[in-house]
Amino acid sequence: MSQEESPTFEARLSEQEYYRPPPAFIGQANVSDPDIYNRFDEYPEGFEEYAELVDWDERWDTILDASDPPFFSWFGGGKLNASYNCVDRHLEEYGDKTAFVWEGEPGDTRRIAYQDLYHRVNEVAAVLQSVGVEEDDVVTLHLPMVPELPITMLACARIGAPHSEVFGGFTAPALANRLEDANSRYLVTIDGYYRRGEFLDHKRKADAAVEELEGDVDTVLVWTREDELHPDTNMVDGRDVLVADLLDDHRGDHIDPVSRNASDTLFLMYTSGTTGKPKGAQHGTGGYLSYVAGTSKYLFDIHPTDTYWCFADIGWITGHSYIVYGPLAIGTSSVMYEGAPDHPHKGRVWEIAERYDVDIFHTSPTAVRMFMRWGEEYLEPYDFNFKHMTTVGEPIQPEVWRWYYTYVGHETAVIVDTWWQTETGGVVISNLPALDDMKPGSVGRAMPGIKPAIFDEEGNEIEAGSGNAGYLVLTRPWPGILQTLYGDDERYISEYWEEFSDTESDDWRDWVYKAGDSAVQAADGYYRVMGRVDDVMNVAGHRLGSMELESVIVEVPEVSEAAVAARDHPQKGEVPDVYAVLMEGIEPSESIREEVVSAVETEIGKFARPENVEFVNALPYTRSGKIMRRLLGEISNDRSLSDTTTLEDPDVPERIREQVHVS
Ligand code: WT7
Repeated sequence: MSQEESPTFEARLSEQEYYRPPPAFIGQANVSDPDIYNRFDEYPEGFEEYAELVDWDERWDTILDASDPPFFSWFGGGKLNASYNCVDRHLEEYGDKTAFVWEGEPGDTRRIAYQDLYHRVNEVAAVLQSVGVEEDDVVTLHLPMVPELPITMLACARIGAPHSEVFGGFTAPALANRLEDANSRYLVTIDGYYRRGEFLDHKRKADAAVEELEGDVDTVLVWTREDELHPDTNMVDGRDVLVADLLDDHRGDHIDPVSRNASDTLFLMYTSGTTGKPKGAQHGTGGYLSYVAGTSKYLFDIHPTDTYWCFADIGWITGHSYIVYGPLAIGTSSVMYEGAPDHPHKGRVWEIAERYDVDIFHTSPTAVRMFMRWGEEYLEPYDFNFKHMTTVGEPIQPEVWRWYYTYVGHETAVIVDTWWQTETGGVVISNLPALDDMKPGSVGRAMPGIKPAIFDEEGNEIEAGSGNAGYLVLTRPWPGILQTLYGDDERYISEYWEEFSDTESDDWRDWVYKAGDSAVQAADGYYRVMGRVDDVMNVAGHRLGSMELESVIVEVPEVSEAAVAARDHPQKGEVPDVYAVLMEGIEPSESIREEVVSAVETEIGKFARPENVEFVNALPYTRSGKIMRRLLGEISNDRSLSDTTTLEDPDVPERIREQVHVS
């Protein structure tokens, strides 16, 4: 992979100056002694420091069981409950402390103290049991940013039922897919929620998904956003139950948290891969909880007195790890917001930051680019003062970083960029905020105990400072690592391990985790992550597989074949471009174009909307019949075409390019 292939990041590849963390920040930081890196270099013993942050019913006897790679098991023999750790154990000291202060989009607010959270979680656990949910049953959630989402997750964790939350923005077919893959018989949804002033009918997506599955889902639990049910909500007799009605029978109930093995599953989180079928990243209890608690304390630097706001959606891994499990495990007071950042005005985020006196702010580069485009005048009226800010999900361009530093951080906040994935459970590459200097556009060094490397095609390590990009890999297991892909151990091995591991070996040192990203490491050890190397794109921080989109697009009757490539986009990072071949005798038309766009919007979600739809005569196939999406990406981004000699017809890309750039 040559650097010329990523000209977007050319700017980032020039060296940037360092910024020192402010002394006031260092003085109060949870970690300010660089010895932490040495402690964690004792491997795997160092990671016990994270496990010590969690309460165990029984202490572990094995730190890392690596006897069956790549199925690693952390803190084996240990027993614990995640809901107990996030709720019960704080009651004595922090019963009155705010766990969440939630703001609805219309301006309604709710403060939920740890004591309240305890009652709600217990009652909902009782409700789940009352409809038949048992330990190890997968409960699918399709909930937006309402307090009922973390409450339901913790209620599941309390009774040992793994939850599988599907991002609220996903539509019915995407939900049905995930319900089916997880063999989930229970679905929890809500009648509606607010977005840009509109009270959306959310449950209809659940209805369509469940109908599609024809009886596999037997119980749909329905939360209510307001006192009155959404006027369009249709309750199906014998299948749909209002949580509010069941709660009436379970007020004040207490359900003992079940003691789970460290390796028992806590949740599934579906994510996109290189095939059309989404994959269920399966996370365990002990290793995951320890890892997110540890990183919340050391990296997000949360103190009991802080107000923390992770401005992300719980429907993705960021929210699971850094709104729910990590922060609650260490007794954090968090802000949660339901709606759009520009409703009713573009200062909404800063108004909330001022109102709740937020100290720590976490968001994505896409959000920062959006704030930057709106302009700093929207921040000026508000008096807020962050000491610590982070970004996640995409590379951040140095100029965007500087805007964030200046206008959001007022040049006094420390900023860390955090690289990780659904699969890694928690952040694995980032600077610890008080220990390393900031460098715009760089994600920083490895977290304690993590050993990344950059490999070339042959699996040889590329040296730091060489200026060459390569495949980002992780060379030893860490406690937050996924356990497997739900129900598909083989795909787990082929997606992440096969390429750079000796799969015959039972020594973990021969197993190397391939992240799917390209990266470069500067001489100072800082990594710069450039993007995916596979057919996966990153749209506004959301991972989307090309094949997932293509399989939806070819469902349009007039379309015979389709390929999707990523186009660089100034705000969203990347957006999909569609190249479609029509059926014999069908002429391209505006209405087919609209059909394609609407298929994506309805089958996947609005966030996946294609930027351009091009009707072409042929797609660039290799002689072995693989679509070379990379070439289409070069056309979309107006870059020079790389090698086309392996194509069945090497002239196809040039013909497409002429068509695209003429029209
Ligand atoms: C992919 C993972 C981890 C929570 C959000 C996304 C990209 C993530 C960064 C970063 C550059 C990043 C990678 C990665 N990514 N963080 N700091 N700099 N790229 O989770 O949906 O599992 O996506 O997001 O490409 O592989 P996800």
